[in-house]
Amino acid sequence: MLVHIKDLVQDGKKHGYAVGAFNITNLESVLGVARAAVKAGSPAIIQVSESAIKYMGLKPITHIVSTVAKNVAASVPIALHLDHGTSLDTVFECINSGFTSVHIDASNLPLDENINLTKQVVKIAHAKRVWVQGEVGAMVGSHGDIKSKLKEIPLAKLDEVVKFVKETKIDTVAAAIGTAHGVHINEDIVFSLLKDIKNKTKIPFVLHGGSGVPDAKIRRAIKEGVNIINIGTDLKVAFCRTLIEVCLKNSEETDPRNLLKPTIAAIEKVVYEKMKLFGSAGRAGGSKIKT
Ligand code: G3H
Ligand code: ZN
Repeated sequence: MLVHIKDLVQDGKKHGYAVGAFNITNLESVLGVARAAVKAGSPAIIQVSESAIKYMGLKPITHIVSTVAKNVAASVPIALHLDHGTSLDTVFECINSGFTSVHIDASNLPLDENINLTKQVVKIAHAKRVWVQGEVGAMVGSHGDIKSKLKEIPLAKLDEVVKFVKETKIDTVAAAIGTAHGVHINEDIVFSLLKDIKNKTKIPFVLHGGSGVPDAKIRRAIKEGVNIINIGTDLKVAFCRTLIEVCLKNSEETDPRNLLKPTIAAIEKVVYEKMKLFGSAGRAGGSKIKT
């Protein structure tokens, strides 16, 4: 069932687990996440990037996610979120289309401009009960990049994060604490920075760049108060590796469903394991409010 993101985050906070926010790219990935959530008895956030919206269209995505949440994942709470919204048009369209949370990512602008833009979004979103994620201290790397070691992974500045949260009144905060988008061998989590951000802001923290971070660090990050963990690259890799393998083995196949079906199972498997790692498996009973 489709619920408000705040119900998921609040339950996670109460019971000490993180909610996975899974980037979907097509129908197969939506089905994979939904089936994993049902199998694990876990809440889940389904998130779409601007490029996913460009690929599928906002209306089709919104309808597919809500129909799948209602019919395939009726027993578990699912929330729909916009990930890395950089255009105000897209952010406002998502607010008006039933998303319960939007990420305005103006983190590459100077701090004051980031604050001003984020404040504009908060004003409009909060009037419609929609949560806003803001970002300060931009994330590096790109979704799907699995080949390189990054030269440098810059960190967010604590005083900037605190000022940003205080002035914008965002609901959840994303900040660079050592992870990066994609899978890179030098990804890390600077726990002292995470602790300070949590202590000084007191709002839910979103860990971006969840793919490629060792399990032990993820477990510790949840103990230190990470509330949402974003996973994108791991799902893209599971989909593409599986599809390539199936196509190579079945080059005469003429029914697309026979080629695509294993990709759903591959995504389900990855997401199921993440739900166990994040501690959200078995927690589906916690959220009650339908949107
Ligand atoms: O916004 C999306 C995430 O931060 C995904 O990062 O591709 O490293 O899992 P990832
Ligand atoms: Zn991200």
